[in-house]
Amino acid sequence: MSVRKAVFPVAGFGTRFLPATKSVPKEMMTVVDKPLLQYAVEEAQSAGIEQFIFVTSPYKSAIADHLGASSELEKFLSDGGNASLLASVRGCQLPSNAAHFLVQEKPLGLGHAVWCARKVVGDEPFAIILPDDLVLADIPCLSQMVAAHEKTGGNMVAVVDVPREDTKRYGVLAPGEARGGLVEINGLVEKPNPKEAPSQLAIIGRYILQAEIFKQLGEQKYDVNGEIQLTDAMCALIGGGPFNGFKFEGKRYDCGDKIGLLEANIAYGLSRDELRNDVAAVVLRAADALKSD
Ligand code: UTP
Repeated sequence: MSVRKAVFPVAGFGTRFLPATKSVPKEMMTVVDKPLLQYAVEEAQSAGIEQFIFVTSPYKSAIADHLGASSELEKFLSDGGNASLLASVRGCQLPSNAAHFLVQEKPLGLGHAVWCARKVVGDEPFAIILPDDLVLADIPCLSQMVAAHEKTGGNMVAVVDVPREDTKRYGVLAPGEARGGLVEINGLVEKPNPKEAPSQLAIIGRYILQAEIFKQLGEQKYDVNGEIQLTDAMCALIGGGPFNGFKFEGKRYDCGDKIGLLEANIAYGLSRDELRNDVAAVVLRAADALKSD
């Protein structure tokens, strides 16, 4: 069955970016000139997603505002003949029958946020995109996954190789057989101590899951931090059909982290023809300034 729906869990407090995230949702932080949210929606659109399900918090109205129409602004740009800016503003405007906004009253964990989407997803495979993971790639990451998933079916998570000392920040795979970009998943461990991590293959914010995950999420207990973890629920699906890690082509930036967001700004700036030379000059000037310190 094709993947038609995507869930965007965007209800976290984004504490690592305070004070910026006091009034601006983390997902509205920009890389060059576009919010993380818009990159995520455009990636889903490229992958053929038809229904967009946002699990937001009561304090993040900017998310729905950005995805809706803004008639005054559009009229201004249209009257001024500014077609390219107009297209960029309309880039992630979603028709009302394609956008669903659900409220997670309290940030009770990623697993709980996904569980909030169960009724809108229904009984079909669906994608999850975490907008703070940005992937710069020729073919968008979710499109690569959907193409691979058409062959494998089952469950799939995007994975990257991380340094061993970083395993404590991720869900980590106990890998089985590897074929091409696919790695069979024999087990998953949430934030393992580097010495005990079963591999250095870490899950990032792109998933394609079967609807069975909702039953597991409904049965999960809150962890010591009072959260429901998606990784714990995914563990219960292992062995019940194909479950693969997917090594995508492209470079992932952790934009939930200060340095990751800065690096993404540089990389995306360098990737744009009209900005490349100026961004390169800024980076070189900064490196020179460091040398002379
Ligand atoms: P993070 O673990 O990065 O949490 O969530 P956070 O609150 O956004 O940021 P920090 O760690 O406090 O700085 C990963 C993704 O899951 C969503 C977040 O909005 C983000 O997109 N999330 C997390 C929820 O939707 N609900 C939650 O309860 C937790």
